[in-house]
Amino acid sequence: MPVLISSTEATPKGNVPANESVGIDDLAVYVPRLFLPLAGEFSSNRGIDPGKLVKGIGIDRMAVVDAHEDAASMAAMSLLELMRRNRLCPEDIGKVYVGTESAPDEAKALGTYVIGMLEQIYGRGSFQEASTVEFKAACIGTTFALESQSYWLAGEEEGKVGVIIASDVAKYPLFSAGEYTQGAGSVALLMKKNPRLLALEQIYGTFTRDENDFFRPMGCTTAVVNGKHSNQCYLDAMQGAFDSFAGKAKRKGVITPGTGESVTDFADHLLFHIPYPRMVEYASAAIFRHDWRESRRSTGIERELGPEPVAREFDDPQKYQAAEADYARRFSRSQEFLQAFAAKVRDTAILSRQIGNIYTGSIYLGLASLLEMQKIHAGQRLCFGAYGSGCSALFFSAIAQAGVESVPLRGLMQRLEERKQISLQDYELLHEGKKKESVLAPNGEFALVGIDEQGYRHYEYVKAMDMRASKR
Ligand code: HMG
Repeated sequence: MPVLISSTEATPKGNVPANESVGIDDLAVYVPRLFLPLAGEFSSNRGIDPGKLVKGIGIDRMAVVDAHEDAASMAAMSLLELMRRNRLCPEDIGKVYVGTESAPDEAKALGTYVIGMLEQIYGRGSFQEASTVEFKAACIGTTFALESQSYWLAGEEEGKVGVIIASDVAKYPLFSAGEYTQGAGSVALLMKKNPRLLALEQIYGTFTRDENDFFRPMGCTTAVVNGKHSNQCYLDAMQGAFDSFAGKAKRKGVITPGTGESVTDFADHLLFHIPYPRMVEYASAAIFRHDWRESRRSTGIERELGPEPVAREFDDPQKYQAAEADYARRFSRSQEFLQAFAAKVRDTAILSRQIGNIYTGSIYLGLASLLEMQKIHAGQRLCFGAYGSGCSALFFSAIAQAGVESVPLRGLMQRLEERKQISLQDYELLHEGKKKESVLAPNGEFALVGIDEQGYRHYEYVKAMDMRASKR
């Protein structure tokens, strides 16, 4: 039997050095205060059955940025909350890495705007010893930043901590099939030695291939997406990264499945990139099916579903594809899959249902979902499958530390309930940049207050209760 890690086994394990691990110490999430429900005005105007959006895609509400918000202001908001929660001073922070694909500038690092905003609070020059760089790799940028920062942190000798911020506005053209998979938000991760939440096992499995599934040519404000192809690229890349991770974990002796066991038996939670919640179901079905093929589960699955279609037994490739799609659908309804999905994957999408895609931070919204629901227990192994179009996937693992049960919660569900619902008309005006006045005047937040004739952006911290309208 594999050494399954459960909530009752709180001993540190895996590939984490006992005395000096690196990983995630805390996280903070910022979500805009406006939302659009998908069922209702939106679904009827677009002529889409609401059941498709809420069940078929899996999103109830899409977060919408107000006129004074962008990827930089949201990043500053999540960093501010992270610093306040952890009583951090700017001087404690060695590096601010930012994962984004919706930065407002083609050259200037988004982190410099963020530092400028934070220095309005902490004092000018207070961040001058922190370096900042932007990681652009579609939705996987933040995860490559995390991998990179983990190596820096391991060698850091001045007692500094690192920060990684994911911040994005996910935007597709109005009336397109991508429209109902939009969203916006930011997640800031505090990276430390001997972290309270998750110690990284430092095993990274990668897969990269040149693809046209999703991209945004220079000057375009919305992404070009080949929707069905993007789903397939995601699944291919995830499987490649999983195999790479599994091979490394076995070679290092960190995960050593015995006869009939599989690698995912050694994971308590599987977190995937969440462009929309149903994608997590497709991804986990593909990974479990692949991983279980040689395991003891395969007999029961074959008994329930019959044999898998084999390409060489079909003369017509289209008939094989149809048989394969049918088998995949039946696999995703099998008892074995439904049990594993409910136990290890389903709860990661709770916040995403209320927010939509936040691109590179989506997988960490999955982590926030588990933390807010107190589903993670010390000693558990979490496996992450990040994906970025273009395309790359990265599969890695971490072990939950004792602090995972004591770090204060963030009240995210409550905050999402307090948001303001906007009309379809306001959403469309904001989407097209035609609404200059904020729907909700900035209040206790960073706000974009102007873009000057050179294109430089100006942000201000608007104090709480200071109800000045945006100057834009
Ligand atoms: P679509 O054509 O709107 O949806 O495309 P569909 O027709 O495939 O239907 C989706 C599901 O709804 C299906 O479920 C339908 O049956 C079901 P399934 O058969 O697969 O189980 N359905 C219904 N369910 C209940 N009641 C009904 C009903 N009708 C249908 N009445 C797509 C969906 C996601 C492709 C589209 O929205 C899109 O292009 N989105 C943007 C791209 C995207 O999110 N791709 C995901 C993978 S790529 C990625 O994750 C990277 C990304 O985050 C960017 C980055 O890396 O930076 C996007």
